[in-house]
Amino acid sequence: MLFTSYSIKNLTLKNRIVMSPMCMYACDDESGRVHDWHRVHYPSRAVGQAGLIVVEATAVTAQGRISARDLGIWSDEHIAGLSELTGLVHSHGSHIGIQLAHAGRKALVEGPIVAPSAIAFDEKSRTPEALTEEQIGEEIAAFAAGARRAKEAGFDVIEIHAAHGYLINEFLSPLSNKRDDAYGGDKDRRYRFLHDVVDAVKREWDGPLLVRISAHDYHPEGLTPDDYVDYARRLKAQGVDLIDVSSGAVVPAIPPNIGPGYQVRFARQLRSEAGIATGAVGLITEGAQAEEILQAGSADLIFIGRELLRDPYWPRTAAAQLGVKLDAPPSYTRAW
Ligand SMILES: Cc1cc2nc3c(=O)[nH]c(=O)nc-3n(C[C@H](O)[C@H](O)[C@H](O)COP(=O)(O)O)c2cc1C
Repeated sequence: MLFTSYSIKNLTLKNRIVMSPMCMYACDDESGRVHDWHRVHYPSRAVGQAGLIVVEATAVTAQGRISARDLGIWSDEHIAGLSELTGLVHSHGSHIGIQLAHAGRKALVEGPIVAPSAIAFDEKSRTPEALTEEQIGEEIAAFAAGARRAKEAGFDVIEIHAAHGYLINEFLSPLSNKRDDAYGGDKDRRYRFLHDVVDAVKREWDGPLLVRISAHDYHPEGLTPDDYVDYARRLKAQGVDLIDVSSGAVVPAIPPNIGPGYQVRFARQLRSEAGIATGAVGLITEGAQAEEILQAGSADLIFIGRELLRDPYWPRTAAAQLGVKLDAPPSYTRAW
């Protein structure tokens, strides 16, 4: 199954292997513009035959960067570099998505940082300013503008980053959202920011839409996969096509039982109970392991992170492990 095609809306991926979004911190200045590193890094994985490459967390506002060297999509000036990237990946036969992100209280940039509530991530982190309702509207508009620019730059897929304790995740979790207005208080109101972001993005973007979530807060008062079944149903009702299921990092809790495929069970639960397509991610490194996840019906797509940093041609490695013949890029036919 790993090497069968997969369709989302009007898009058909040539296989189920997705390069997971991974920050490269590789902009050579603070402009957020695509750099030579990105021009080599992403197309290499297209040569390696990944079906979909999701570009790293790309900031919808300058204050929403994880670091000053993050990629950005907060200005029309970013479109040219991102277009170059989509063109390069397309010319090597893969599809390309972008992860739209806002780091919230985890932003490591000069100036004020923002969050739903004025609570620092940990004792070493700065205390963010709580967003006003007006500012919340501006952040939602920034995600929509990011989606418009992603479309203009030729991306095939948008993934909204609602995981890992960044801004959207901070709104969802009761550990970081202590508001008592329309954007916090109970489950419905904590969901509202993500709801509004999805709606605003969909007004600009009618292509495949993914949302990455952290399905477990690993904290006694935090969210669990059962809570995310409800959120996944809501996302499905809003027209989200697939949930990319990660976990943790809204608070500094270490997930227990970190090991091969430790997050796959969350993808499985959301897929079966919310009836939405899922992507599995986290310590998936072997072809047979990926195949088993798909065969078991735990997920529709397999997101590969670090193994694709170690081995840009991991699809070839996995195909060899599974005894599948994978077409080589023409120039590599004699070596594949
Ligand atoms: C260098 C690096 C940067 C990452 N940056 C992002 C990111 O930008 N967005 C995101 O959602 N996850 C990010 N992650 C998490 C990965 O996408 C992936 O979920 C995680 O590494 C687990 O998968 P793996 O075991 O296959 O690496 C990053 C991970 C690494 C190692």
